[in-house]
Amino acid sequence: MHQRVGVSAVEYTGVGFGKLLLFGEHAAVYGYPALGIALPLCTTVHLVDEGLRTELKRSTAESGLSAPDLPKKDREIVQALWEDLFRFASDSDNLLEHLRERRFTLQVRSDVPRSRGLGSSAAACAAFAGAWTAMEVGSKLPDSQHATWLLAHKLEHRFHGTPSGIDTGLAVYGGCRSFLFNGGELPETQALPPPAFPIVAAAVPRGSDTKALVAGIRRRREAGDPVVHQALAQLGRISEQAIDAVADGAPAETVAAAANEADSLLVELELDSEQVRYGLRLAKEYGALGGKISGAGGGGAFLAMFAPNQAEAAAAFAAALPTKLKKTGGEAEAIVILPPQLRPPSTKAESTTSGPA
Ligand code: PMV
Repeated sequence: MHQRVGVSAVEYTGVGFGKLLLFGEHAAVYGYPALGIALPLCTTVHLVDEGLRTELKRSTAESGLSAPDLPKKDREIVQALWEDLFRFASDSDNLLEHLRERRFTLQVRSDVPRSRGLGSSAAACAAFAGAWTAMEVGSKLPDSQHATWLLAHKLEHRFHGTPSGIDTGLAVYGGCRSFLFNGGELPETQALPPPAFPIVAAAVPRGSDTKALVAGIRRRREAGDPVVHQALAQLGRISEQAIDAVADGAPAETVAAAANEADSLLVELELDSEQVRYGLRLAKEYGALGGKISGAGGGGAFLAMFAPNQAEAAAAFAAALPTKLKKTGGEAEAIVILPPQLRPPSTKAESTTSGPA
């Protein structure tokens, strides 16, 4: 996925996928496993080595990176991530000193919606880390994807104080994956067969951020709120069962029923929002078997699951949602995640190596 590209040896590319959390949100904070799937949307970073710096200050801390195509705010984020890379990356063969003497241009392309709980910051971190890893080691490391994940995870601290590693794991590896928290710096992750039915990943603007929502649940849990204790344990149990079900290729009805059950618990935890509820009701009208809030809640992402022969209904729902919500003063994005056998040939080929799901 992350490689030297084209004929030039001085351009490095990294890719990071957006993500949809299928099961385990909030319970994952307390050690339960989670399940997620990469979106067919990604961020791509091209890092072009422009050669030795000629300016006088080249040995000072001044950055040798420019990103002329980005808006100012994004340029600032990119500069901060660049400096993070120098802090976190290994300094094999005095590489960092050597890199400081060179000029780089950065280009970023992304179709991952931002600030919606669809993993845009993790996708950017993974793409950045992927381009860096390609430049740093080529294929020297035995598992450069794991190195990329670790680097992306470290970068993500700039966006989220305590990232779980789920988003960056899905961003780097793609596909459908489980995440098991065992106290390590990163969770253990395992690739699962992608669900054999369409899933619509949708998102509306967020009324609150993940940090505040997680802190709110934590406060109530620590105060001994029985609703919170029970809901988290049940969400954890549903996530464990859903991981087994997806691993066994369970039918859409089974997984969708688990989604409905998890959704009721997330609503009980007061993580719902009007626009998400509108979207989930609309999904049912279009024939969805089930759906749920996805991720931290308070707006943001949600998902709807359809029967394997309902790809057209899933596409119709994804197309209708933004227009219908707009009429009620809302706003939404929706993306259909098709099972590999229903994807157009070009994306199907990609998915056998490093595709989204
Ligand atoms: O930021 P989101 O919407 O992808 O949610 C993250 C999932 C949580 O379980 C709520 C937080 C976490 O770190 O696991």
